[in-house]
Amino acid sequence: MFIELAKRLQHTEEYYFSKKLREIDELNKKGAKVINLGIGSPDLPPHPSVIETLNTYAQLPNTHGYQSYKGAPALRNAIAAWYNSYYHVIFNPETEILPLIGSKEGIMHICMTYLQEGDEALIPNPGYPTYSSAVRLAGAKGIYYTLGAEKNWLPDLEALAKQDLSRVKLMWINYPHMPTGATANRSFFKQLIAFAKEHHILLCHDNPYSFILTDKPTSLMTEDGAKEVAIELNSLSKSGNMAGWRVGMLVGHQDRINEIMRFKSNMDSGMLLPLQMAAAKALELEQDWYDQLNDTYKARREKVYELLDELQCPYNRSQVGLFIWAHVPDTYIDGYQLSDKVLQQSAVFITPGGIFGSAGEHYIRVSLCTPVATLQEAINRIKQHKSV
Ligand SMILES: Cc1ncc(COP(=O)(O)O)c(C=O)c1O
Repeated sequence: MFIELAKRLQHTEEYYFSKKLREIDELNKKGAKVINLGIGSPDLPPHPSVIETLNTYAQLPNTHGYQSYKGAPALRNAIAAWYNSYYHVIFNPETEILPLIGSKEGIMHICMTYLQEGDEALIPNPGYPTYSSAVRLAGAKGIYYTLGAEKNWLPDLEALAKQDLSRVKLMWINYPHMPTGATANRSFFKQLIAFAKEHHILLCHDNPYSFILTDKPTSLMTEDGAKEVAIELNSLSKSGNMAGWRVGMLVGHQDRINEIMRFKSNMDSGMLLPLQMAAAKALELEQDWYDQLNDTYKARREKVYELLDELQCPYNRSQVGLFIWAHVPDTYIDGYQLSDKVLQQSAVFITPGGIFGSAGEHYIRVSLCTPVATLQEAINRIKQHKSV
C-alpha cells in the first residue's frame, strides 16, 4: 500500500553516509575490502573503568527501569564538574544541564523547540549536514553563511549584520569546526555574543571536538554573557570513544533547558542507568586520557598528511578535531570526482567536501579514526593506481 510522505520529508533525502555505506557494502560483497576513511566514529574503546562501571551497574537488579527525564543526578554532577575543570565555567547541575542521547538528537530538539514556519536559522556552509535537515524538518528556513579559508573559516559577522535578520531566531555555530578543523579564539567568541545580543538571536554552539588534537578545550560558554544568549551541545562520542553509546549533553540557562525539556520529554524516556553511570565515569577521566588519545591521533595525522600529499591535495597543518580537510587539485571538477575515483580505483573511501555545503565542493575530508597500518595500506593502494 502506498502512503504519501509527510511534506516535511519531501526535501529531506536519506543521510549521505547511510546511502554511501550501502554502496561500500556492495563493493565489499564483490571482494573490494574498502578502507573507509569517511566517517568520524572512533575505532578505539572507551577507558576500561568506563566499561567496568557499565558492567557493575548492569548486574544490579534495580537499574533497568525508566529513568528521570532530566538525567541521573550522578551524570549531571559529573557534567558540571567536567565543565568546571576543563572549560572553567560553572553550571548548576540541577537546573542548567540536560543529558542527551547524543548531541545529534539535541540539534533536532533545539530546532523543534524554537523554530516553525516563517522562522529562519543561520547555518554554516560548509557545516554538519544535520543543522540543515533539523531546521528544515522543524518547518523553518536555513540561511547559509559562507565560510572560507581566507577568513580561517570564521563567519563575517559584519557582513551578516547587514543582512535582514528579522526572521532569524537561531544561529548554528561549531568551533572547533567540522569539517574544516578551524578553531575560534576567545575574541571571536566575544564578538559572536555581542552580535547575538544585538540581533536577538539564540547562539547554538555545537562543541563535540574540543578535546581532539587540542591542548586546551574551548567552550563558548566560558565567555561573559554567554548564558544570556547561548546554549552549548557537547558529546562523549569523540572525546570518550563512545559514539555508539549515544551520550551527549546540553548546557545553558535554566530557562532554555526547561524550554527544550518540554519537547525532549515528549520524545524519549531517558537513558539506561548503567550507561549514565558509566558516562559519569568517563567524564571523571584525567588529562592523561586525552593526552594518550591525542598521541594516537597525532601519529595517524602524519599518515593522513602523507596520503593527501600523494593525492596532491594541500591542507592546513593547524587543524584540530577528528578529520583533515584538504583542497582538491584543479585537475578534478570537485571533491566528488576525486572521492569516486579513489573509491573505484583504490577501494579507499574519502568524504567529498560538497556534502557539507557548496563552499566545500573543492575539498575532501579524511577521518583519523583508522589505525596507522590501515592508513599505510590506503597510501599503498593509492600509490599503486597513481599512474592510471
Ligand atoms: C559537528 C558535529 N556535531 C554533532 C555530531 C553528533 O555527535 P553525537 O554522536 O554526539 O550525536 C557530529 C558527529 O559526527 C558532528 O560532527
